[in-house]
Amino acid sequence: MKETILVTGGAGYIGSHIVVELARAGYAPVVLDNFANSTPAVMSRLQALAGRPVPLVTADVRDAVALRSAFHDHPIAAVVHCAGLKAVGEAEGRPLAYYDVNVGGAIALAEVMGEAGVATLVFSSSATVYGQPDDLPVTEDAALRPHNVYGRTKRVVEDFLRDLAHANANWRIAILRYFNPAGAHSSGMLGEASRGRPNNLVPLLCKIAAGELAEVAIYGGDWPTPDGTGIRDYLHVQDLAEGHVAALSYLAAATGAITLNLGAGSGHSVLEVIAAFEASCGRKITRVMSPRRPGDVACYYADPARAEAILDWRAKRDLGTICADAWRWQKNGGRY
Ligand code: NAD
Ligand code: WQD
Repeated sequence: MKETILVTGGAGYIGSHIVVELARAGYAPVVLDNFANSTPAVMSRLQALAGRPVPLVTADVRDAVALRSAFHDHPIAAVVHCAGLKAVGEAEGRPLAYYDVNVGGAIALAEVMGEAGVATLVFSSSATVYGQPDDLPVTEDAALRPHNVYGRTKRVVEDFLRDLAHANANWRIAILRYFNPAGAHSSGMLGEASRGRPNNLVPLLCKIAAGELAEVAIYGGDWPTPDGTGIRDYLHVQDLAEGHVAALSYLAAATGAITLNLGAGSGHSVLEVIAAFEASCGRKITRVMSPRRPGDVACYYADPARAEAILDWRAKRDLGTICADAWRWQKNGGRY
C-alpha cells in the first residue's frame, strides 16, 4: 500500500474520479468535503469502485481546527486540493464568497499542511487563468489575463503557491490547469450531478437527450472559427484523474512548484460536440442559435507537451468516449 492522500472536494465531480484512480494506483485516499456542491451519497459508490473503505472527513476546508484533526487522525502524506466554488457566472455576483472559499481555503490548507509537516500538494487550477490567449495551442508561458472573478481566484492561489515554494524549499507543488473536463466514469457510477440547470455544454446535452431540458442554446454562430461556434479542449475526467496520479509520482522526487496544462491538445467546436453526442445517444439534440455568452472566448486548446514530458501522461480518451460515458451516466439517472 502506498501513502494516504487527502482529497479535498473528493465528493465532487473531479475529486471523486481522482479518489478512484488513486485507489486503483494503490494509494489510500481520504475525502474531505463540506458537500456545498455534492452529496454524501457518492461515498458508497467511491468505496465500491475503490474496492476499499474510503474515510470521509465532513469539514469546510477553511476550518483550520477541522483540518488539524484530519491530519492528526490520518497519516496523510500529500494533498490533492479540489475543494472550491466553480460557477463562473455566480462568481461575478458573489466575489467575496469565491475569494473566501477558493483563496481562503487554500491558505488555511497550506497553513495546516505546514504545521503537520506535509509538503506535497496538487492544486486544481483552470485554463480560465489564461483568458483569451494570443497564440494557440496555449502553453504554460502564455500571459495570465483571466476575465472573470472565478479565474482571478485561481490566479491568486497559483501565485501564492509559487511564492510558498520559493520561500521554503520543502514544498513540492503541482499546479494543474485543467482545460474542459467532461464525460463520466466508464462504469456509469460517477459523473457530474448538477444542481439545477447545468452550466457546461456536455451535462446540458445529457439533460436534453434525456428529455429533461428542451434544447441547447448555441452561444454564438459568428465566432472566427471554421463553423462559427466556439472551440474548446474537452478532456475526459478519467484522463484528468490519471494526470493527478502521475503528478503525485512526479512530486515524490521533485521540489519546488511546477505548473502544467492538462488538456487533450486539440479543440472541438460546439457543433462537433453536439454531433458526437447525437452519435453516442442515438437521439436528436434540438438546438437554437443564440447571442454570444458574455465573457466567452472564440477558441482555446492546450499545448500539453510539458505534462507529457514531465509526467509521462497524455489524454487517451477521445470526444466520442467522453460523450458515450456521459450518456451512460445520464442513463443511470445522472445523480446520486
Ligand atoms: P465540484 O463542485 O463538483 O467539486 C468541488 C467539491 O468541493 C464539491 O464536492 C464541494 O462540495 C466541495 N467544496 C466546495 N466548497 C468547499 C469548502 N469550503 N470546504 C470543503 N469542500 C468544499 O467541482 P469540480 O468540477 O469537481 O471541480 C473541482 C476543482 O476543479 C475545483 O477547484 C474547480 O474550480 C476546478 N476546476 C474545475 C473545472 C470544471 O470544468 N469542472 C475546470 C477547471 C478547474
Ligand atoms: C463550452 C462551449 C460555450 C453552454 C467552463 C468554465 C471554465 C472551466 C471549464 C472551471 C463554449 C458553448 C455552452 C451552452 C453553448 N471551469 N456553450 N451553449 O465556458 O469553455 O469553460 O468550464 O474552471 O472556467 O468557464 O465551458 O461547457 O460552459 O462551454 O453554446 O448552453 O460550449 O459557448 O464555446 P467553458 P462550457
